[in-house]
Amino acid sequence: MEQTLSIIKPDAVQKNVVGKILDRFETANLRIAASKKIQLSKEDAEAFYAVHSKRPFYGELVEFMISGPVVVSILEGTNAMSLNRELMGATNPKEAKTGTIRADFADSIDANAVHGSDSLQNAKEEIAFFFAKKDIC
Ligand code: CMP
Repeated sequence: MEQTLSIIKPDAVQKNVVGKILDRFETANLRIAASKKIQLSKEDAEAFYAVHSKRPFYGELVEFMISGPVVVSILEGTNAMSLNRELMGATNPKEAKTGTIRADFADSIDANAVHGSDSLQNAKEEIAFFFAKKDIC
């Protein structure tokens, strides 16, 4: 069993499609081991995306991620990390395959509906960023 971190971003929360996105995960046999709706601070968003701090889009990414609440969840299941990435589709929704979350709910590469860990090591670190052991069951 693997675990991975999912963030439903401010655009998708604003569109009121949280339930529809969580349903995609459950329908694909991913279990929600923890979930919470939170408002990120600027410091949270900067720290979470620190790996992108030298990229030209970092400032906009941070501003976007604090523009409204997000829903962070731990998804658990067989091949959870790569399965979640398949369900999300390409980072740029214009390149995302039909039927993926980003093709169906995202508007742009910034407002792209969801984030998912891109490696098992990052999944561990991203889960620890948001959740204490006692919050996971
Ligand atoms: P995410 O999976 O959350 O990881 C970093 C985010 O940066 C990415 O989704 C996009 O929303 C955003 N981003 C903006 N521009 C780019 C870009 N050119 N390449 C990759 N990510 C980008």
